[in-house]
Amino acid sequence: MTQNTKNSVKIPQLDLKAGLGEYREAVLAAITRVVDSQEFILGPEVDRFEARLAEYMGLGHAIGVSSGTDALLVALMALDVGPGDEVVTSPFSFFATAGVVARLHAKPVFVDIDPGTFNVTPAGVRAAVGANTKAVIPVHLFGQMTDLGSLYMEGGPAIIEDAAQSLGARLHGEMTGHYGLCAALSFFPSKNLGCFGDGGAVVTRDPAFAERIRMLRVHGSKPKYFHHVVGGNFRLDALQAAVLAVKLPLLDGWAAARRRNAGRYDELLQQSGLVERGLVTPPAVAPGAEHVYNQYVVRAARRDELAADLAARGIGTAVYYPRPLHLQPCFADLGHGPGDFPHAERACAEVLALPIGPELHAHQLEAVVDAMRAFHRV
Ligand SMILES: Cc1ncc(COP(=O)(O)O)c(C=O)c1O
Repeated sequence: MTQNTKNSVKIPQLDLKAGLGEYREAVLAAITRVVDSQEFILGPEVDRFEARLAEYMGLGHAIGVSSGTDALLVALMALDVGPGDEVVTSPFSFFATAGVVARLHAKPVFVDIDPGTFNVTPAGVRAAVGANTKAVIPVHLFGQMTDLGSLYMEGGPAIIEDAAQSLGARLHGEMTGHYGLCAALSFFPSKNLGCFGDGGAVVTRDPAFAERIRMLRVHGSKPKYFHHVVGGNFRLDALQAAVLAVKLPLLDGWAAARRRNAGRYDELLQQSGLVERGLVTPPAVAPGAEHVYNQYVVRAARRDELAADLAARGIGTAVYYPRPLHLQPCFADLGHGPGDFPHAERACAEVLALPIGPELHAHQLEAVVDAMRAFHRV
């Protein structure tokens, strides 16, 4: 317990050490195995993890790559996205979602989000798709899948699901990657399945697409030193794959604990008086969605003051994301201004991610909500 100004509570927004005991020994054994083998690049550890991930997701092919960013990038490269092409996506996401589009000299076309789920809507996407649209990237933000309804089935532009935050989530019973051409995953340490550094994967049922990703991951070569297309070094390290293979069987248990904690927050907030006064709004879950709560994100009327007050009480929070993508300086040439995507802009001003790790106990969640009530004097 660390002493701080208002009381002795200490609840970090993210506590990766808390769950370590559950898998520490197994992970160290796996790392030792890799060290002893000295096979660090691709090889059996990566093959094994890819096979387990594909099986877990019920899709035929998983290709481990160097990060979630590279999973998105290589998926767009596999579709030959380039100058003159448009990619429809959300302005309320981590930068990588649109950054990869711009890196291929294609144009990100943003559509506004639903204020409840923070995800784009079928109507918004439909209106933005045009003759130059090569792909759509729905972002399954915070652990909840985007419901694009019949758009997933309509045979329009390729749909690359940005599932960086939503491995294990379901929509109408199906996991990420089942609706689109592929799911792009991130294993960044703060994700529900995190590795010990950077890592990612592309998961798909399409064998030809999978083959193309495998080739692009090693500079477009097959066999080695014979290059069919220009790819990159997008490989997942064997060490990371070994770590991920140990953690994957634990993922669903962690997601269940996150859902339990989210349910408690929902109840506590409803009982707190904060919701009815419009001071704090819990996140909405769309019909048919099974959320995995990579983040539990509320809207708060006086967000920045509240966050500072919680910090002074020893409670960590985070803002994902403070500025929408269409207003980032690097995208100034797209010509957007304030007011273009009002729901995304408002979300940036109001969202606050509370501690939601699977290790948290009921009394800690109560302490968070009590602190929010104390700030608002409710
Ligand atoms: C929605 C979203 N897309 C893409 C990424 C990129 O993943 P990475 O950090 O592994 O490159 C992240 C994670 O940071 C993310 O949250």
